Amino acid sequence: MSPDCDATLSVDEVASACPKCGELLDVQYDWDRAQTPKSLRDFESRWSSRNRPLDFSGVWRFRELLPFAAEDKIVTIGEGQTILQPSKSLAKYVGVNDDCLFLQYEGLNPSGSFKDNGMTAAVTHARMVGATTAACASTGNTSASLAVFASTSQLLNVVVFVGSGAIAIGKLSQALDYGAHTVQIEGDFDDALMRVREVCAAMNIYLCNSVNPFRLEGQKTIMYRVLEGLNWEPPDWIVVPGGNLGNCSAFGKAFVELKQLGLIDRIPRLAVINAAGANTLYQLHEEQGLRWNEGRVDGESINGFYSEMDANNRRASTLASAIEINRPVSLKKSLRSLDACDGVVREVNDEAILDGKAQVGAGGFGCEPASGASVAGAKLLREQGIIAPSDRVVCILTGHQLKDSTATVNYHAGQSTTGYGKAESPFSPGKFANRPVVVENDLDRIMDVLRGLVG
Ligand code: F0G
Repeated sequence: MSPDCDATLSVDEVASACPKCGELLDVQYDWDRAQTPKSLRDFESRWSSRNRPLDFSGVWRFRELLPFAAEDKIVTIGEGQTILQPSKSLAKYVGVNDDCLFLQYEGLNPSGSFKDNGMTAAVTHARMVGATTAACASTGNTSASLAVFASTSQLLNVVVFVGSGAIAIGKLSQALDYGAHTVQIEGDFDDALMRVREVCAAMNIYLCNSVNPFRLEGQKTIMYRVLEGLNWEPPDWIVVPGGNLGNCSAFGKAFVELKQLGLIDRIPRLAVINAAGANTLYQLHEEQGLRWNEGRVDGESINGFYSEMDANNRRASTLASAIEINRPVSLKKSLRSLDACDGVVREVNDEAILDGKAQVGAGGFGCEPASGASVAGAKLLREQGIIAPSDRVVCILTGHQLKDSTATVNYHAGQSTTGYGKAESPFSPGKFANRPVVVENDLDRIMDVLRGLVG
């Protein structure tokens, strides 16, 4: 269904945009017919039947809240086995009370990022409509995710489009290893996304970017698991990095639906964190005051912003390559979520992102640069007094630490040591660098050095 013109398509149709108004589509349910649970606690019974793949999946164990697929069509690879961990060290870094900071590690998914939550839903829908080829454009994680679903299910041929230059090596290696046809477009992610949309429409290929509304249905479950981790008690804040804005859109939809269904009584506030070098949402929402406005979003302002961006040849640039995006495709949907969740948008620079990432590494399982934006954003909002010390804050860590080990090694060891990474990186080694120590191959010398390090 189009949120703009209310045109309605059936669940068996394939469309990434409304044929009438051109806006992105939403999945809408007839909740009266769906068998929704009386309480979120009802889902706990599935923990005892984890040997069933649909109950094991961290997405499909909530299937009554995304009831678009028959069970025998669902494609699952064990996605969503992710955890919410309290972190005292990060609480200290962000500036909230000891027990108030939680990290949701979506990097623990099979392909190492949150994308698997949405991809299981998109690939399920692809199967429902009998698609044989699927494609996506990607800054790296979407392509890794689609590729692993294709390799494990053997249901689809996959083509992934990536821009030139900015993709982290770990992500590219995944698409290649999983056997996806990989097409590198001269240009950036925005160019690749535009082309893949054209190609999919012209060649009848199933499109798996987050313009696909089923992707967002799967991504809603990240919020269900956060609630589950908090004993079904909504936190005060969800803080998430913003790139193409699928997560932000999905999270808002999740909470609005749960509230409508009477399954929660309060919606958390949402903070979307842009990299300062890729800050379209921040500019539009915070600087220009663009709002959802009950669905009447001021399209002129958006077009004006993009025209000015093109006229000045201003292109996104950040070391957090996952979110290096100029024209976030779910912009309007994200405004709806920000409206529903009393949301705010902030920008943080690369130095703050990498420092946040280093803190996640030093106090937990680690994450990739884009995910560090959520910690940096939470810290900034605390400093600004918008997050209170007693607020319970959940930072979403969207991708695994090993996705972009180049960024990590550069931060800790300094660029000159490794020779990798973007040449202009001014932040290596970073503020919290854990530098490797170079020692000559001599036992006494080595022990001397160790005494200095560990006493
Ligand atoms: N974090 C990571 C690790 C990502 O890979 C992405 C997006 C985001 C955050 C932003 O999420 O788009 O929902 O706002 N990566 C996409 C990709 C664009 O192609 O892998 P969003």
